[in-house]
Amino acid sequence: MIPKVELHLHLEGAAPPAFIRDLAREKSIDISGIFDDQGHYAYRDFAEFLKVYEAACEPLQTPEDFRRLTLAVLEQSAEEGVVYTEAFLSPDFCGGGDVAAWRDYLPAIRDAADQAEATHGITLRGIVTAIRHFGPDQARQTALCAAETADDWLTGFGLAGAETVGMPGDFAWSFDCAKEAGLRLTAHAGEWGGAQMVRATLDALPVERIGHGVQAIDDPALVDRLAEDGITLEVCPGSNVALGVVPNWAAHPIAKLRNKGVKVTVSTDDPPFFHTTMRREYDRLSETFGWTEDDFFALNHVALAAAFCDDATRKRIA
Ligand code: ADE
Ligand code: ZN
Repeated sequence: MIPKVELHLHLEGAAPPAFIRDLAREKSIDISGIFDDQGHYAYRDFAEFLKVYEAACEPLQTPEDFRRLTLAVLEQSAEEGVVYTEAFLSPDFCGGGDVAAWRDYLPAIRDAADQAEATHGITLRGIVTAIRHFGPDQARQTALCAAETADDWLTGFGLAGAETVGMPGDFAWSFDCAKEAGLRLTAHAGEWGGAQMVRATLDALPVERIGHGVQAIDDPALVDRLAEDGITLEVCPGSNVALGVVPNWAAHPIAKLRNKGVKVTVSTDDPPFFHTTMRREYDRLSETFGWTEDDFFALNHVALAAAFCDDATRKRIA
């Protein structure tokens, strides 16, 4: 199996539905409405996806819940041949996003990461992530969580959530704060907000990577800028197809972007929500665009070079 590097995975978004259902039952929380008849997460569009996502986070209430979640997620990723993952961690879903609670949650997640590394040989690094539709004030709190816990494991700061709410510049304080703390930066853009949101993000925030970014394809000058500036796109094709960002795999712009010299990488985003895994992403890319083992080797090389880990970790993974 090809050893895979994944740069864009939301920890809570990777929670298997059965895991969340069992946790909800243990705590007598009724979230039955978020599942379909087969027990999968059920939503009709992106707005509903975000609501179901937040409801699925409700039973995650203690550091121990996050320890168990991290173990379950990393075990699954390792089975897919993933050797290195960067996970978006949201203090907003860990005790409400205040720094005091975050101090308790992070060690539990790291403890699970150590255990998974020892047992399954998979390496995890964390990216603290603000949720855009919770607003710039909450994002400041999140950035303070990130700045306080920044180190060689907690290596990044990011922005996810509803991209059409607010503008990237609203989050400049948070990104500057994280940058000053030595964190590497990424932001979701160009999933829903169009090429202009990718441009606005690059203009307003000192990011090295963009989450998704696929709508940049509509603006040839922007595609050139991405290629020239060496911005890495964390592309999640299966997510884009499932959520309706593109109508089908054949219409996905990942191959065009790659052919234009943009650094593209492949990730799953929130795998159980989109009925995907890293192996399925690779299989569909191979079927749709004829990508071979050599292509995937090159793709993983690009991903590892753009990873937010230190060079010693990068060398160990390579
Ligand atoms: N959070 C989890 N998945 C997301 C996505 N695809 N877009 C924006 N925010 C998210
Ligand atoms: Zn995402």
